[in-house]
Amino acid sequence: MSTETGTLFLHPDRNLALELVRATEAAAIRAVPFIGKGDKLGADGAAVDAMRKFLGTVDFDGLVVIGEGEKDNAPMLFNGEHVGTGRGPACDIAVDPIDGTSLTAAGRQNAISMIAVSDRGTMLDASSVFYMDKIVTGAEGIGIIDIHRPIGDNIRALAKAKGKRPEDIVVAVLDRPRHAQLIDDIREAGAGTRLMLDGDVAGGINAALYGTRIDMCVGIGGSPEGVATACAIKALGGEIQTILYPQTDDERQRGMDAGLKFDHVYTANEMVSSDNTFFVATGVTDGGLVKGVRRYGPIIRTESIVLRSHSGTIRRISADHLAEKWLDH
Ligand code: FBP
Repeated sequence: MSTETGTLFLHPDRNLALELVRATEAAAIRAVPFIGKGDKLGADGAAVDAMRKFLGTVDFDGLVVIGEGEKDNAPMLFNGEHVGTGRGPACDIAVDPIDGTSLTAAGRQNAISMIAVSDRGTMLDASSVFYMDKIVTGAEGIGIIDIHRPIGDNIRALAKAKGKRPEDIVVAVLDRPRHAQLIDDIREAGAGTRLMLDGDVAGGINAALYGTRIDMCVGIGGSPEGVATACAIKALGGEIQTILYPQTDDERQRGMDAGLKFDHVYTANEMVSSDNTFFVATGVTDGGLVKGVRRYGPIIRTESIVLRSHSGTIRRISADHLAEKWLDH
């Protein structure tokens, strides 16, 4: 069979994310004892440890492009580290064992554990510049939204494309002082805000998924999170545009030395040039994207979302784990 569909149908290949989901499940489960205990580092450490252990069992050669930082500061899952068994496909990988460590430590909603993957050499390493400005929507925003335009214009354009009124549009934005004007402008345009305490990866994905209350996610957040979101958006068929947002001249210089472009709109394809992307996230605490880890007697239940661009599938995976298996390993 020579057609794309025929080939896909006759030769189902491997969905790596279905194996990687074990690593985000493990990270989420291990973070549970730290929920609401005020210990960000403890939560992150437990999640990193668990994720690394499980990644080590997956047949792939993963190069951490976006990880926990540089080798000297991060004992594991540092940028440049190889993970997996080394057998199988060579991939770039972005990991955030907990996106929302503060949320987890405070016992708040919307913390997730996530992994994004693309073919080797295709993921932008934006880690030398901490922040980027972002705008994310679902497919209706393609060719419609423009990060350079005022937010009110983007809201009206998206509303028209979605057959809604601007008043019905809901925009997710991180609740930060730097967004005070942006938040005013969103409301001025008649739209509603969903202010996020943290976790703009989930916010971006919710903007691109059908059946959520979020239409758009905007504002300045982490660059690594932006690239990870781009992997998910490629699988969801949505739209993402970003502009790097350096804080100092030094940071700008470091970015330039790393080959990053400033005053430039990065598209999903520029952040992840491969069309073969995977994204997987498991809820740590309850959120709009996925539910958090729950305990039902002898069972620990996790909820995950698994996205794959090649096949365009969105899977929601609920898994029950025997709690006794998690007691001391
Ligand atoms: P971590 O939990 O990994 O620290 O990230 C949380 C987060 O809210 C990201 O989702 C977001 O991109 C970034 O921090 C925003 O940074 P800041 O808190 O400095 O505004």
